[in-house]
Amino acid sequence: MTAIEIRGLTKHFGPVKALDGIDLDVPSGAIFGFLGPNGAGKTTMLRLMTGLARPTAGTVRIDGIEVGSGQRPPIGYLPDTPMFYGWMNAREFLRYIADLHGMTDPPIDATLERVGLLDAAKKRVGGYSRGMKQRLGLAQALLPQPSVLLLDEPVSALDPAGRKAILDILNDLRDSLTVFFSTHILGDAERVCDEIGIIDHGHLVMQAPRDALLARYARPIFEVDVLPEAVPQLAGLAEQLGAQPWVTRTDLDGARLRLRVRDVDEARRELLPALTGLALLRVEMVGATLEDIFLSLTNGQDPAEKDI
Ligand SMILES: Nc1ncnc2c1ncn2[C@@H]1O[C@H](COP(=O)(O)OP(=O)(O)OP(=O)(O)O)[C@@H](O)[C@H]1O
Ligand SMILES: [Mg+2]
Repeated sequence: MTAIEIRGLTKHFGPVKALDGIDLDVPSGAIFGFLGPNGAGKTTMLRLMTGLARPTAGTVRIDGIEVGSGQRPPIGYLPDTPMFYGWMNAREFLRYIADLHGMTDPPIDATLERVGLLDAAKKRVGGYSRGMKQRLGLAQALLPQPSVLLLDEPVSALDPAGRKAILDILNDLRDSLTVFFSTHILGDAERVCDEIGIIDHGHLVMQAPRDALLARYARPIFEVDVLPEAVPQLAGLAEQLGAQPWVTRTDLDGARLRLRVRDVDEARRELLPALTGLALLRVEMVGATLEDIFLSLTNGQDPAEKDI
């Protein structure tokens, strides 16, 4: 079943085409990562999906209900900069949210437990860490028991521990509801998303299951790490290898040389002898990461052509 169906979604702010004819389908139960650089149109898209902003053209349907039609779709929403009343505690805040939704028997403690805040339920929200506030934001989005959760950059401002806490919660929600979240942190999307969309300048440049995306564009890459004393030699080696027919591209970054190769077997045969005498730390074959794909796509290049 399709949880989110978007057709021709367009939003203009005067001359700025923030979104330009987006078509997108998100299957029920998916964790969908919506990736894009700053200013790509992510927040605009989420605001149109919630009905907080009106499109210039196009439609959004959530569980078959058209946003803006008067009927409320079953969504929970966490904006990019959530606001809280610092003087309330978490339980009071969720009670306030429940009242806004007209809920008579809201599952407040169960929701706090789900986001790991039950022990802090009586603490003033003003004293919460940023990570705790973000988890409370997630709790308020989950409270009305939505079937689709819309999250605008839920992890971007958090430290690694805070990010992991949120991503673990999203992982636990897998299959019980559909999660649509925007981010520009690719590693996070790579970790939890089943499906990925990439937006740039208001256009959807790619939508695919994560594994298919990685498999389609993954080209063999060899990484060579050397000890500090061998760094001066590495530039010469990069140049020498770059001229070989089995190497399609070299990237030198400090003590690391990345080689994109045409043929793995040939590279295996040729590479090791070329490294003889070098103070090596590590040689490994890796696949292209989502970051390689993202940078290539948002630079307007076709990664299939680009040997990423
Ligand atoms: N209310 C507005 N008035 C005018 N232009 C706007 C408005 N909101 C967004 N824009 C423009 O629309 C484009 C998309 O902005 P949007 O905030 O959706 O991007 P984003 O992908 O969320 O970026 P970020 O990663 O910085 O959050 C930008 O060019 C932005 O300047
Ligand atoms: Mg934004």
